[in-house]
Amino acid sequence: GGKKGKAARGLRFTPVAPNTDDKVTVPDGYRQNVVVKWGDPILRGAPAFDPDNQTAEAQAGQFGYNNDFLALLPIPGERNRQLLVANHEYTDEVLMFRDYDADNPTREQVEIGWAAHGLGVVVVEEDRKTGRLTAVPRHHLNRRVTATTRFRLTGPAAGSDLLKTSADRSGTTVYGTLNNCAGGVTPWGTTLHGEENFNQYFAHGSRTTDTRYGIGTGETERKWERFDKRFDIAQEPNESHRFGYVVELDPFDPDSTPRKHTALGRFKHEGATVRLTSDGRPVVYSGDDERFDYFYKFVGSKRMKKGSSRAVREHNLSLLDEGTLYVAKLTGDSPAIEIDGSGTLPDDGEFDGSGEWIPLATATARGAVSHVEGMTAEEVFVFTRLAGDKVGATKMDRPEDVEPNPVTGKVYVALTNNSNRGVGSNAKADEANPRNANKHGHVLELTEQWNRADSKKFAWSLFLVAGDPEDPATYFAGFPKDEVSPISCPDNVAFDTYGNLWISTDGNALGTHDGLFGVATRGDRRGELKQFLTVPKGAETCGPVIQDRRVLVAVQHPGELDGASAGNPLSAWPDGPGRINRPAVVAVWRADGDDIGE
Ligand code: FEO
Ligand code: CA
Ligand code: CA
Ligand code: CA
Repeated sequence: GGKKGKAARGLRFTPVAPNTDDKVTVPDGYRQNVVVKWGDPILRGAPAFDPDNQTAEAQAGQFGYNNDFLALLPIPGERNRQLLVANHEYTDEVLMFRDYDADNPTREQVEIGWAAHGLGVVVVEEDRKTGRLTAVPRHHLNRRVTATTRFRLTGPAAGSDLLKTSADRSGTTVYGTLNNCAGGVTPWGTTLHGEENFNQYFAHGSRTTDTRYGIGTGETERKWERFDKRFDIAQEPNESHRFGYVVELDPFDPDSTPRKHTALGRFKHEGATVRLTSDGRPVVYSGDDERFDYFYKFVGSKRMKKGSSRAVREHNLSLLDEGTLYVAKLTGDSPAIEIDGSGTLPDDGEFDGSGEWIPLATATARGAVSHVEGMTAEEVFVFTRLAGDKVGATKMDRPEDVEPNPVTGKVYVALTNNSNRGVGSNAKADEANPRNANKHGHVLELTEQWNRADSKKFAWSLFLVAGDPEDPATYFAGFPKDEVSPISCPDNVAFDTYGNLWISTDGNALGTHDGLFGVATRGDRRGELKQFLTVPKGAETCGPVIQDRRVLVAVQHPGELDGASAGNPLSAWPDGPGRINRPAVVAVWRADGDDIGE
C-alpha cells in the first residue's frame, strides 16, 4: 500500500537510482567536490603527489590511502574551517605501484605502505560562495599518524607480560596503528578509531589464539615481516597482541601521543561510539567484524569533566581506562518459520526479543578482575574473543558499526552479511540473524532497559532486513516496500540532527554500486529508506558525516576490481581514464545552499 505525504525532515530529496556509473552520483539539485585525495600534500614540506616517484618520506606528509571513517570537528574561533580526521584503513599495493611485484616488494614500497596507513588530520575550509570544501595544506593542526607513530598502551592490560616485546620490555609503548576502519567522536572532543583486520599484517601464527583472530600460518600478502621482524610471530610472538584495540587521538594537539585502550578489549574493532550515562560516564559500543562474532559495550566508571584546561583534557583521556567490558547475548521471543530454505520469518510477525550484557572483566585503579572462569583479567582484555566464546555470546552476521542515536538513545547495529550462516556445521539462522547464507545483511535496533546506556538488559528488534524490496525476506521497519530504495551490505552508520539513520554500504550484492542511504527511525515515515548517493566502480562508501548543510563520504578503494592494477586502472575516478585511482573524500551540498533533505 502507498504511503502518502512528505518524506521525513532531512530526507526530502529525490532518491538516486541504483546504477553502475563510474562516478559519484548525487540527487538532483545537489553539488559535490573532491575535498582531499590520497597523496595530496598536507604537512609542511611534503611534495605534490607523483605516483611514479613516490617515497615513504613523501607519503608520510601526504594524505594516506583508503580513507574510511571520517570526523568533521568544529575549530574554536574559526567560522569557515573545520578539522577533518580520517582513517587510512589499508593499502592495496597492486593499485598503488605500477612496478609492484607481489612476490618481491621493495623496502621502499613496504615503507610507503606503512606511511599510507593510519590516520590523517587536515583542516578543511568552506568557500561560502560556491559551497566547495577544500583542504588547507601546511596548517599547524594537520597531522599524519602512520604504522610507525609512537602510541601508548593504556588500561588494564598495559604492562602485562602478554604485551611485552624485545623492543618494549615495559609492554606500554607500541609503534603504529593498522587497519583503522570505523570510529567515533567522543563528547570530550577526541576521536576513536577501531583497529580492525590487524591479523593480515602478521606472519607465521601458530597459537590457538592466533587462529581465533584469523592470523595465518604462512607469509603475509604484503610481506612486511621480511623488513621488520615484529610482523613475524615466530620471531616476536607478542607484537600482534598490541594491535586490535580502540585508538584514541586528541586531534587538536598535534604533538600528543595517541593511545590504545586495552579496557575496550582486543578484537577486530570495526569502530567505537560513545554515549554518556546520565551521570556523565562514557559507554562505548563496538562491533567485532567477523562472521559469527560478537558486539560489545564498555561502561566507564569515571565521569567526564567539562572544560578545556590541560588537567581536564588529561582526565578525560583516562576515562576509557576504568570500567567494565560486556558482550551481548540476544534471545528471540518467537519460533521461526522457514521460508524457501534461505531464511526465516518470525511467527509473531516481528524479529525481536530480549538481551543481556554479560560482564567479561572490570578494570579499576587498583587492578582488574575477570568475570570469566578460567581466564585472568589480562587474558580477557587481550583475548577478548575467547572470553566471548566462553560466556556464550550471540554469534552475529558480521557486526560493523554499532552506534547510538543521539536523538533517541536507541542503538543501531549494522550486520553487513554472512555467506556462511547455516552452511555446513555453522550456526543456522535465528531470530536476530534470520537468513542463511545472508548476502545482504540487516540492521538491528537495540533499546537499553529504561533507555539507560549502562543498563545490563535490553530489548531488540530488526529495523531493516536488507535486499531488493521485492524479496519477501526483506523488511523496512514496516514501511511500504514499493517506496524504498534497494540496499545491500550495511556497514557504516551515522545520524543527522533529526535522528535519521544514514547507512553506507560495502559490497552491494544486488549487482549495482555501493552507496549512502538515509532512513527515518521515528514517526510515520519510520523505515522509509532513500538512496542519497552512489560511488564509482570498485569503490566502497565509508565514513559518512551528515551535517545540516553538508554530507561527507570517503570513497574507499575506487577501481579495486579483478584484473585491475596501477598500470591498468579499471575505474577512471577521480582523475580520469588511465590515471591511477585515488581514494578520496567527497563533500556534497545543496546547490541553493539550503539544508540537506529539507
Ligand atoms: Fe573495514 Fe568491517 O569494514
Ligand atoms: Ca518475534
Ligand atoms: Ca567498515
Ligand atoms: Ca566492511
